[in-house]
Amino acid sequence: GAGFCKSHTLLVCKIYCLANSVYICAIKIPTVSVSPEDLNTTAMAEFGNYIQEVFPAVFSSKFIQHEIVGKYSHLFTVQGSNPEMMPYMLLAHMDVVPAPPEGWDFPPFSAAEHEGFIYGRGTLDNKNSAIGILQALEFLLRRNYRPRRSFYVGIGHDEEVFGRKGAMEIAALLEARGVKLSFLLDEGSAILDGIIAGVKKPVAVIAITEKGSITLNFTVEKEPGHSSFPPKETTIGILAAAMSRLEQNPLRNLFGHGPELMTVEHLASEFSFPLNLIMSNLWLFSPIVSRVLAWKPSTNALIRTTTAVTMFNAGIKTNVIPSSAKATVNFRIHSAEKATEVLETVRNTVADDRVKIDVVEAFDPLPISPWDDQTFGVHIFQRTILDTFPDVDSVVPGNSEVLGTCRWVTNARWNEKRSFSSRIHGLNERISVENYEKQIEFLFQLIKNCDTDKLPEPHANSHEL
Ligand SMILES: *[C@@H]1O[C@H](CO)[C@@H](O)[C@H](O)[C@H]1NC(C)=O
Ligand SMILES: *[C@@H]1O[C@H](CO)[C@@H](O)[C@H](O)[C@H]1NC(C)=O
Repeated sequence: GAGFCKSHTLLVCKIYCLANSVYICAIKIPTVSVSPEDLNTTAMAEFGNYIQEVFPAVFSSKFIQHEIVGKYSHLFTVQGSNPEMMPYMLLAHMDVVPAPPEGWDFPPFSAAEHEGFIYGRGTLDNKNSAIGILQALEFLLRRNYRPRRSFYVGIGHDEEVFGRKGAMEIAALLEARGVKLSFLLDEGSAILDGIIAGVKKPVAVIAITEKGSITLNFTVEKEPGHSSFPPKETTIGILAAAMSRLEQNPLRNLFGHGPELMTVEHLASEFSFPLNLIMSNLWLFSPIVSRVLAWKPSTNALIRTTTAVTMFNAGIKTNVIPSSAKATVNFRIHSAEKATEVLETVRNTVADDRVKIDVVEAFDPLPISPWDDQTFGVHIFQRTILDTFPDVDSVVPGNSEVLGTCRWVTNARWNEKRSFSSRIHGLNERISVENYEKQIEFLFQLIKNCDTDKLPEPHANSHEL
């Protein structure tokens, strides 16, 4: 088991370990991506070899084609027995953001187990999906299962640094082959349990769109000077004032113009009195609700384009007035806005010609996937969630605040996680063993449920793992 894994080398571990241990070993491979040019490709190649060794049924199946795309990403084509059924796709990524060990309770690539949790960079983002999908498929194949509906599995290697070599090439390949998908599932949202104030039962949120993003550099340049004759305003003072104006003047509140309205409407009956009344009468209460949502950072992000000043640099010596000051700001764009509009608003807020603005990268929010009774993906997610998580009371549409691989292959998507977003990319990223197993069960059930050609009725707990 897992204890064994901790005390042995990767090679031994590969041969002996079972489901959770396979996962633990995968966490130990440091597949870090720092920038598009700076990836640990040794680790990515090792990850590729590792999955081949631990998922023999997947790699030897006659109806599964495996391709390496962009050198380190993986595309699996699982040929279903009924070519009439429209295929779907499951996405994940193997790469992780860097994790300096300072501040972690356990080293970030140790995959330490503690009180029912596995700690490590990538445990939530997103080796849980990458290994989880393959694990579910391996289990099914070992039971001589063959799907009726075809599907694709894409595992990218550069998602954290824009996905240009991995997910984008996979998308181009599928497009060139004329592939049409009925839905696509990526990382995205969570089962919220006790997180929404006023809602008692767990609620599964399916992200049906994803925010856009624009990153801007701000620069102020002036003649350098000596600190004994300072000018009235320094580059630092001018730039700091501009950053402060951006923080004091957030972008407009767009409550009601994006998927957050659908979330609240679908959740209305879950709230206790009098919130249920308020939420089901948004035509009247929308101004109050939108003001309440603006209070907390987590809900504020639902209703507007957010502003995050992430870098600020100036000065080299105690007695020299610096000739330049630089700052970088990242905005996550609400579904109802475009990158160009954000740029325009930011220029008006800064309102100072001495502050030069450069665009580092920009992309608009994704289109919103349909959410209705006619959509196959919505039915499949609802049914599979209720099969796997019997305590979940409702399944609602929502937005994804994080950017996933599916930017390049748009459609509906979902991923099971009961955790707090601050741990993703943060310190002490971890997943409970129970939730990791639940995720495999969810994927196992999802693949089986997709074999239906009629839209199914949800029913409770019919799994057999
Ligand atoms: C890259 O990954 C390999 C193992 O796959 C590891 O030995 C090496 O230390 C990693 N490099 C860095 C810079 O972390
Ligand atoms: C933006 O600033 C960062 C950090 O100073 C720098 O690395 C990057 O090259 C800049 N990009 C542009 C387009 O100015």
